[in-house]
Amino acid sequence: MDFGMRNRLSKIFNPRTGKTVMLAVDHGYFQGPTTGLKDMGNIIPLIPHADCLFATRGILRNCIDPKIDTSVCLRVSGGPSILGELSKEDITTSMEEALRLNASGIGMSIFVGAKNEDRTISNLGRLVSEAERYGMPVLAITAVGKDMGRDARYIGLACRMAAEIGAHIVKTYYSEGFEEIVASCPVPIVIAGGKKLPEMDALQMTENAVKAGAKGVDMGRNIFQSDSPIGMIKAVRSIVHKGLTAAEAFDIYQKSKKSGVSENINAAMEKV
Ligand code: R5P
Repeated sequence: MDFGMRNRLSKIFNPRTGKTVMLAVDHGYFQGPTTGLKDMGNIIPLIPHADCLFATRGILRNCIDPKIDTSVCLRVSGGPSILGELSKEDITTSMEEALRLNASGIGMSIFVGAKNEDRTISNLGRLVSEAERYGMPVLAITAVGKDMGRDARYIGLACRMAAEIGAHIVKTYYSEGFEEIVASCPVPIVIAGGKKLPEMDALQMTENAVKAGAKGVDMGRNIFQSDSPIGMIKAVRSIVHKGLTAAEAFDIYQKSKKSGVSENINAAMEKV
């Protein structure tokens, strides 16, 4: 692996812990103005608490201050809306754009078990081949086909396929038997949070995933849809980077919520 690739990966995975808290705010690329992201100004105070921001080019260009310290992983696939056949996704953003935006990684979805799974897998293969010419890590996101369960067998299949095709990082959902999924995937796995859960449940899922070998999270709704987004990202961060339990992290969330601390960019000082 060359310097550029390793350097970019070190902007995603915190070199002090080898893990990452990625903040996913790309949902609008197929869901439109999702709850919590209608006004992207809401996510600005969260950015300093993340190791990496996962977003589309439209959001980066229009809503994010280029002076942020947090690295960026760029969503480069899209096409169908939530109303259409999601597996018809294609690559929508070029490598040139990823380099111009100074991305530390690029991400696309694969739809194993869905109608157009083969097309999304060959897109991933082409993207990896191109990305490797520029030392750009590729994050493959294993979206779940409508008829597939979120169990270890299916998620294990999707993660292993993504790694075999060449993804450098895999994002998937947490499921029972996650140790098995991690053990059979030769590249780092981060978990998506999925739909909004009660805060304690989301933190427990994070603890379980990290204990099972996940290298962190690329989490969105369970952070930005929380009643205390700053409290949640701090809590998630404490599990991922400091090994706190979900119960200990919940305390951090509650204290932050109660204190009503001004949720501003100076909180960057509290990063691990
Ligand atoms: C799908 O919209 C994106 O890939 C999200 O980045 C991913 O699902 C993570 O977000 P959440 O934690 O809300 O599931």
